Amino acid sequence: MEKGCFLFVALFMANCLALSLASTPAQNVTTDVSALLEFKNLISSDPFSNLANWSSTNFVCNWQGISCNLQNQRAMALNLSNLSLTGTIAPHLGNLTFLTSLDLSFNNFSGFIPTELANLQQLQLLHLNNNSFSGAIPLSLSNISNLERLNLEYNFLEGSIPQGIGNLSNLKTLTLGHNQLTGSLPYGIFNMSFLEEIDLTENSLSGSLPLDICNYRSKVKKLYLSMNQIQGAIPQFIYKCRDLEHLSLSYNQLHGTIPRTLGYLSKLKDLSIGANTFEGGIPLEIGNLTNLEQLDMKSSSLTGRIPLSIFNISSLRMIDFSNNSLSGSFPAGMSYNLPALEQLYLYTNHFDGSIPSFIWECKNLVVLRLAENNFTGGISKRIGNLTSLKGLDLNDNELTGGGGKISSGARYWPC
Ligand SMILES: *[C@@H]1O[C@H](CO)[C@@H](O)[C@H](O)[C@H]1NC(C)=O
Ligand SMILES: *[C@@H]1O[C@H](CO)[C@@H](O)[C@H](O)[C@H]1NC(C)=O
Ligand SMILES: *[C@@H]1O[C@H](CO)[C@@H](O)[C@H](O)[C@H]1NC(C)=O
Ligand SMILES: *[C@@H]1O[C@H](CO)[C@@H](O)[C@H](O)[C@H]1NC(C)=O
Ligand SMILES: *[C@@H]1O[C@H](CO)[C@@H](O)[C@H](O)[C@H]1NC(C)=O
Ligand SMILES: *[C@@H]1O[C@H](CO)[C@@H](O)[C@H](O)[C@H]1NC(C)=O
Ligand SMILES: *[C@@H]1O[C@H](CO)[C@@H](O)[C@H](O)[C@H]1NC(C)=O
Ligand SMILES: *[C@@H]1O[C@H](CO)[C@@H](O)[C@H](O)[C@H]1NC(C)=O
Ligand SMILES: *[C@@H]1O[C@H](CO)[C@@H](O)[C@H](O)[C@H]1NC(C)=O
Ligand SMILES: *[C@@H]1O[C@H](CO)[C@@H](O)[C@H](O)[C@H]1NC(C)=O
Ligand SMILES: *[C@@H]1O[C@H](CO)[C@@H](O)[C@H](O)[C@H]1NC(C)=O
Ligand SMILES: *[C@@H]1O[C@H](CO)[C@@H](O)[C@H](O)[C@H]1NC(C)=O
Repeated sequence: MEKGCFLFVALFMANCLALSLASTPAQNVTTDVSALLEFKNLISSDPFSNLANWSSTNFVCNWQGISCNLQNQRAMALNLSNLSLTGTIAPHLGNLTFLTSLDLSFNNFSGFIPTELANLQQLQLLHLNNNSFSGAIPLSLSNISNLERLNLEYNFLEGSIPQGIGNLSNLKTLTLGHNQLTGSLPYGIFNMSFLEEIDLTENSLSGSLPLDICNYRSKVKKLYLSMNQIQGAIPQFIYKCRDLEHLSLSYNQLHGTIPRTLGYLSKLKDLSIGANTFEGGIPLEIGNLTNLEQLDMKSSSLTGRIPLSIFNISSLRMIDFSNNSLSGSFPAGMSYNLPALEQLYLYTNHFDGSIPSFIWECKNLVVLRLAENNFTGGISKRIGNLTSLKGLDLNDNELTGGGGKISSGARYWPC
C-alpha cells in the first residue's frame, strides 16, 4: 500500500517535471552559448578584453566569469563584476534557466532591466548595483521566488518599488538605495520572514512607516531609509523589530514624538533619526540602549534635556544632538562612561553651565563641537590630554579663557 502510494507520487512528480520542461524553451548547453553570445553582442565596450575568450571555440564553462553546474554543464553563475563593461543587457540572458547567481555590479550597463530575467526561476542572487540602469524595476522580478539577495543600488531607476517584492519569501537582503524611486514603501517588506537588510537610502520614497511594522514576522537587522520623503511618526510598534541593529531614518519628513519604545530595541548599534521635525524631547529610555555606537538626533526640533544616562553608554563612538533647542547643564558629579567616544556634537542648542567635565576623559575624541550654546567658565587644562583631537569648535558661548571671553573667532580650529 505504502509502496503503491509512493510510486503514484513519484509518477505524478515525474509528470510535472516533464510538463514543466515542455513548457520552457530549449534546454541544453547550446541555449546557454547562444544566450551568452547575444549578451556579449550588446556589450559595446570591453576595454580590458575580459570577454576575449567568450567564443564558440572554447567550452562555455571555461569562459571568463562563468561557473557551471557540474552535472548538466549548464551555466550556474555569471559574474562580470567590476570589469569596466559598457552596454545594455540582452533579454536572452533570461534563457540561462539554470543560473543561480548573476552579478554585473560595478560596470557601466545602461538601458532597462529586462523583464525576461524573471525566467531565471533558480536565481538566488541578482546584483546589478553601481551601473547606469534606468526605467522601472520590472514587476516580474517579484516572481523569482528563490531570490535571496537583490541589489540594484546606485543606478537611475525610477517609478515605484513593486509591491510584489513582499512576496519574495526567501529574500534576505533588499538593496535599492541611491536611485530615483518614488511612491510609497512596499509594506510587505516589514513582515518578511528572512529579510535581514533593507536599504532604500536616498530615493524619493514617500508615505509613512506602517503602524503595524514588524507585527507579524521580521528578522530585520538593518533598516536604512534615510534621505527620502517619509512622513508621519515613528510607529510605537517599532519595538517589534527586535533584531534591529541599524536604524537609519534621518533626512526625512518625520513628525510626532520619538517613541519611548525605541528603548526596547536592545540590539541597536546605530540610531540615526536626525534631520526630521519631531515634537518634544528625548525619551529617557534611549539610555537603555547599551549597545549603541552611533546616536544621531541632530536638527530635529528637540526640546528639553538630554537624559544623562546616555553618557553612560560605554560603546558610544558618535553622539550628535546638534542644532536643536535642547537645554540644561551637565552637573559636575554626573556619572559617565564614554571610553570609545570619537565625535561629540552639541552645537547650536541652549546648554549652560560649565563644559561637561567628562569630555576631558574621552581620550579618543577626534571632533568636539560645542559652539552656539551658553556654556560658561573656563576651558580645563586637561584639554591637552585629548591627543587625538583634530577639530574643535567652542565659539559663541560665554566661556572665559586666556583672560577674555571666547567668541566669534575662527569658527573651526583644526588642532
Ligand atoms: C541542443 O538542442 C538542440 C535542439 O533544441 C539541438 O539541435 C542540439 O543538437 C542540442 N545540443 C546539444 C549539445 O545537445
Ligand atoms: C578565459 O579567461 C579566464 C580569465 O582569464 C580564465 O580563467 C579561463 O581559463 C579562460 N578560458 C579559456 C578557455 O581560455
Ligand atoms: C564576483 O566577483 C567579484 C570579484 O571577483 C567578487 O568580489 C564578488 O563577490 C563576486 N560575486 C559573487 C556573487 O560571487
Ligand atoms: C574594481 O577593481 C579595481 C581594480 O581593477 C579595484 O581597485 C576596485 O577596488 C574594485 N572595486 C570594487 C567595488 O570591487
Ligand atoms: C531566448 O531568448 C530570446 C529573447 O528573450 C528569444 O527570442 C529566444 O527564442 C529564446 N530561446 C532560445 C533557445 O534562444
Ligand atoms: C558609460 O556609458 C555611456 C554610454 O552609455 C558612455 O557615454 C560613458 O562614457 C560610459 N562611461 C564609462 C566610465 O565608461
Ligand atoms: C558604488 O558603490 C559604492 C558603495 O559600494 C559607492 O560608495 C559609490 O559611490 C558607488 N559609485 C557609483 C559611481 O555609483
Ligand atoms: C508571474 O508568474 C505568473 C505565473 O507564472 C504569471 O502568470 C504572471 O504574469 C507573472 N507576473 C509577472 C509580473 O511577470
Ligand atoms: C503576492 O502573493 C499573493 C498571494 O499569493 C497574490 O495574491 C498577489 O497577487 C501577489 N502580489 C503580487 C504583486 O504579485
Ligand atoms: C528603561 O529605562 C527606563 C527609564 O530610564 C527605566 O525605568 C526602565 O527600567 C528601563 N528598562 C530596562 C529594561 O532597562
Ligand atoms: C543664553 O542666555 C541668554 C540669557 O539667558 C539668552 O538670552 C540667550 O538666548 C541664550 N543663548 C543661547 C544660545 O541659548
Ligand atoms: C591629564 O593631564 C593632566 C595634566 O594636564 C594629568 O595630571 C592627568 O593625569 C591626565 N589625566 C589623564 C586621565 O590622563
